[in-house]
Amino acid sequence: MDTIAQPTAPAKDLEFNPLDPAFIADPYPFYRRLREAAPVMKTPQGFWLITRYEDVALSLRDRRFGKDFEGNMRRRYGTDRMNEPAVASLAKTMLVQDPPDHTRLRGLVTKAFTARRVADMRPRIKELVDEQLDRVADKGEMDVMRDLAHRLPVIVICDMLGIPEEHRAPFLAGSNVNGRILEPVPMTREELDLANRNTQMAGVYFNQLCELRRREPKDDLTTELVKAEEAGDKLTAEELQANIGLLFGAGHETTTNLIGNGLLALHRNPDQWERLKADPSLIPNAVEELLRYDSSVQITGRVTHAEVELGGVTIDAEQSIVALLGAANRDPAQYPDPDRLDVGREHIRPMSFGGGIHHCLGAQLARLEAELVFTALIDRMPNLTLPEKDNPAWRRSFTLRGLSKLPAVWH
Ligand code: HEM
Repeated sequence: MDTIAQPTAPAKDLEFNPLDPAFIADPYPFYRRLREAAPVMKTPQGFWLITRYEDVALSLRDRRFGKDFEGNMRRRYGTDRMNEPAVASLAKTMLVQDPPDHTRLRGLVTKAFTARRVADMRPRIKELVDEQLDRVADKGEMDVMRDLAHRLPVIVICDMLGIPEEHRAPFLAGSNVNGRILEPVPMTREELDLANRNTQMAGVYFNQLCELRRREPKDDLTTELVKAEEAGDKLTAEELQANIGLLFGAGHETTTNLIGNGLLALHRNPDQWERLKADPSLIPNAVEELLRYDSSVQITGRVTHAEVELGGVTIDAEQSIVALLGAANRDPAQYPDPDRLDVGREHIRPMSFGGGIHHCLGAQLARLEAELVFTALIDRMPNLTLPEKDNPAWRRSFTLRGLSKLPAVWH
């Protein structure tokens, strides 16, 4: 089946180079050009980019779109990659499965993420935010990424998984290099080797953790998952390990970057920071706006399981779709004046957590962590400034958008 006329090669200003530093510094002008000129566009690499809110929402919610991780990897690398440990592990997670496996795996952990369970975590998370700020308060300076934005979500997910305090140091020091697998640009051999080594090391640790929880069950996610594995038909040993790894990875880097990107955006729009200081009751709404304005997850992928029409363009079955969440969040058809940060904006439904059956499991938790961080910063460090706000250090990463450091000072 033919698609309607598509340029064989996109115009020069629509060429997509997600690791170009200028693009990483500010991807939004490119998204605007793409949305205006070719909102459903096939790239020379053979995948489709979609940028409009409505099309992205459809691709996430309509069952004709699904996951085909193995096929996607083959298309991206031009060869089978399923024997790479990092790739094989991700393949066993709910993130890249269709029903019925997706339903089975997700069902095992949803209980821990209900609105009620997350609300119950509020006092503990508040205490953790204060502890992180206590460590630096007298110094008058910190690297927001290292000292706060990374530590808080790591400790929270370690708590949830039941990782004992004495085992946490490597997690607090490390960062999630395996996130690179989610990039649309193939990893180099060296990057794959590093991701493989990390997966294997994490696998050894998570195995020990499962053994510990078999011997000493507790009220945590690992114990839940171990019980499901022991029940025999719900979860294999590989799935157990892979999904603990997913929860660990998904549970921190994204939230880390929401805190970093959010604080940066507020300081680049000082009137909005002042507005929050004057009226902290706006903070939960501000978190939604910050998720919309500069999402820490920029894309997700789907495959067409059948021929579909999207925005007037017919797409064959078995095509890779890259849904640009960050572009959908700035679609003027959905949000008036989309490039303006407005912490009082109404009716914000950011695409940042995806949608449909894979809608982020940790969305409520991430929102709560960010709310409590911004609340504490306003309360305890109201005159905080970010000396590098005009030239921030973005990580060389596109799917997971965030900063490598964010120095802050206060007095
Ligand atoms: C799925 C974003 C925080 C766990 C997703 C998806 C997105 C996303 C876009 C859907 C991917 C897809 O449709 O293919 C974010 C953002 C976060 C965040 C922007 C923070 C700002 C968290 C946290 C956790 C978490 C804190 C756990 C503690 C998961 C899991 C999935 C997921 C397990 C897979 C769900 C499924 O496939 O059914 N997240 N996430 N996320 N997220 Fe998050």
